[in-house]
Amino acid sequence: MSNEKDWETFKQRLFTKSSINLNDYKPTQMQRRITNLMTRHGATTYLAFFDMMERNSQLYKEFIDFLTINVTEFFRTPEKFDELEKKVIPDLLIKNKKLSIWSAGCSIGAEPYSIAMILNELTPGVKHRILATDLDTEILGKAKKGVYTMNELKNMPTPRLSKYFKQVDGTFQLNEDIKSRIEFGRHNLLLDKFESGFDLILCRNVVIYFTEEAKDALYRRFFASLKSGGVLFVGGTEAILNFRDIGFQSYMPFFYRKP
Ligand SMILES: C[S@@+](CC[C@H](N)C(=O)[O-])C[C@H]1O[C@@H](n2cnc3c(N)ncnc32)[C@H](O)[C@@H]1O
Repeated sequence: MSNEKDWETFKQRLFTKSSINLNDYKPTQMQRRITNLMTRHGATTYLAFFDMMERNSQLYKEFIDFLTINVTEFFRTPEKFDELEKKVIPDLLIKNKKLSIWSAGCSIGAEPYSIAMILNELTPGVKHRILATDLDTEILGKAKKGVYTMNELKNMPTPRLSKYFKQVDGTFQLNEDIKSRIEFGRHNLLLDKFESGFDLILCRNVVIYFTEEAKDALYRRFFASLKSGGVLFVGGTEAILNFRDIGFQSYMPFFYRKP
């Protein structure tokens, strides 16, 4: 199997091709996961696998999806967060002063904390409920700590960065007030019970490995968990084709509303 030199070259070539820096990931975990994927595709060295990806763009895409399983950013897809801030949340606030929001598949917390910042600015002093859940308990531990790298904060305008974070030894620590606004919990979207009464559910970049059947069942359960007038916000590659069958109305691209 591959050696350390191979691994270094693989990381360099991947960085040149994708700007993904594998040095930002835990090497043992990452090597184990990549080796599993390589074996599935019949490659015996990292470099042979890289050559396969150069020839096969589908395999390259699969590899990127595979890597990004926990990857997240504050205000991910900034233009969608802009719509959320300027249109979706203000519309929801017309009906309800206090919102109930669920970030499903929250990873390290960047998504629910982005929502908390928006609400803090739109409705200072109001206590909304923000539930944030993930399958991965390790990642939830990181979410609760609220310590981030610059890369995770790259979409954050400087005024927000200085308003909400303290820089300590090259990391960015989120302030306690924003941290206290999120209720984190472990929850498996494919197994566990769903709460109801949400005004807004975010489920973004979570379902890439789910089958079509599992996705359909999931979106139906989200529909049932929303209040009338509530909105489901999905990822930028996750448009729901049969949203009408489920009962949703189209609202804006990647936002679906329960009538
Ligand atoms: C790529 S991150 C997305 C984070 C954030 N929603 C975003 O868009 O930036 C995907 C997250 O979904 C979680 N996840 C995957 N399968 C899940 C499941 N069945 N139930 C709950 N969370 C799940 C993973 O643990 C991971 O943290």
